[in-house]
Amino acid sequence: MKAQRVLVAGGAGYIGSHAAKALHREGREPIVFDNLSTGHADSVKWGPLVEGDIRDAEAVRAAIREYKPDAVMHFAAKIEVGESEAKPLMYYDNNVAGVLNLVRVMMEEGVDKFVFSSTCAIYGDPEKLPLTEDQPKRPVSVYGRSKLMAEQILESVSKANGLKFTALRYFNAAGADLDAETGERHDPETHLIPNAIGAAIGRGGPMKFFGDDYPTRDGSCERDYIHVSDLADAHILAADKLMQGEQKLQLNLGTGQGRTVLEVLKAVETATGRKVPYEIAPRRAGDAIALYADTTLSREKLGWTPKVSDIDTIVSSAWAFHRKTWGVE
Ligand SMILES: NC(=O)c1ccc[n+]([C@@H]2O[C@H](COP(=O)([O-])OP(=O)(O)OC[C@H]3O[C@@H](n4cnc5c(N)ncnc54)[C@H](O)[C@@H]3O)[C@@H](O)[C@H]2O)c1
Repeated sequence: MKAQRVLVAGGAGYIGSHAAKALHREGREPIVFDNLSTGHADSVKWGPLVEGDIRDAEAVRAAIREYKPDAVMHFAAKIEVGESEAKPLMYYDNNVAGVLNLVRVMMEEGVDKFVFSSTCAIYGDPEKLPLTEDQPKRPVSVYGRSKLMAEQILESVSKANGLKFTALRYFNAAGADLDAETGERHDPETHLIPNAIGAAIGRGGPMKFFGDDYPTRDGSCERDYIHVSDLADAHILAADKLMQGEQKLQLNLGTGQGRTVLEVLKAVETATGRKVPYEIAPRRAGDAIALYADTTLSREKLGWTPKVSDIDTIVSSAWAFHRKTWGVE
């Protein structure tokens, strides 16, 4: 059994729009539900857009009654760590109360399959690397805590009421659709690759990176970059597993390999053929030295392997997308 029709909450955003495209490519029907707070109506190209807020029970109910989805993929959230520290109420409201509302209405309407966008930020500073799913969850930001709380809600509802869910803990989502039909358009943008590309083409001055004195091979922080199209594929596999009766999966999605900030900047220079001007700023509180996933469980449980997540494909796909959207020669 496959998830044929899927409500994609947050499908006008970066990762959700790639999931909508992947669903459409596989012959499924994505129904995007989004309040367009950070997403873009013109990123919804592969199915209908229902404009609504996940915290609005009647709007969610109406969408579920109209489209009768087999499953819900939930991408809709506030995602900025820095902003989450300044605006905790906004983050807990959107990321925790939002999930609560969405799941409550789904269950009331008889939809019990849920694929949730979680994050490696729920782990906090790792005890050992690569990070396995069973490591302690000690998030250091409001954002990370909001995502952990959401997972805990899902666990409780699964146990008590039979919700079937997968929490996919992404490491660093990066890159863009290989046809450049959708990509990353956050504003403000805090992610490394779009900012490095922006700096390389002279959009907004040199880029800042935080800390060059970490105990890594070149002093800069190390992260696990996973291509957004590989993430999208994992969502479809996860939804299908739930359709086949899987009750609960909590899985890391990464490549298992860390790349340092300086290595990523090199890849951006290679892809763009331009220098990336940068300034080194002091370390930021809460930034782990290195984070990379143990991917054994996601490979085993989903039969998923990243296909386009080598750093050069990630960066060149992002470059092609930004070139097109920013009109760079
Ligand atoms: N980008 C990453 O590297 C990364 C890493 C780990 C986890 N995640 C998670 O993946 C998900 C998607 O991230 P993204 O980078 O695509 O973010 P994004 O901001 O591009 O997309 C989020 C989408 O959700 C919509 N939205 C937000 N609040 C809503 C609400 N209350 N009701 C309806 N729609 C709402 C926005 O308009 C937007 O279209 C988030 O849950 C995020 O926490 C992202």
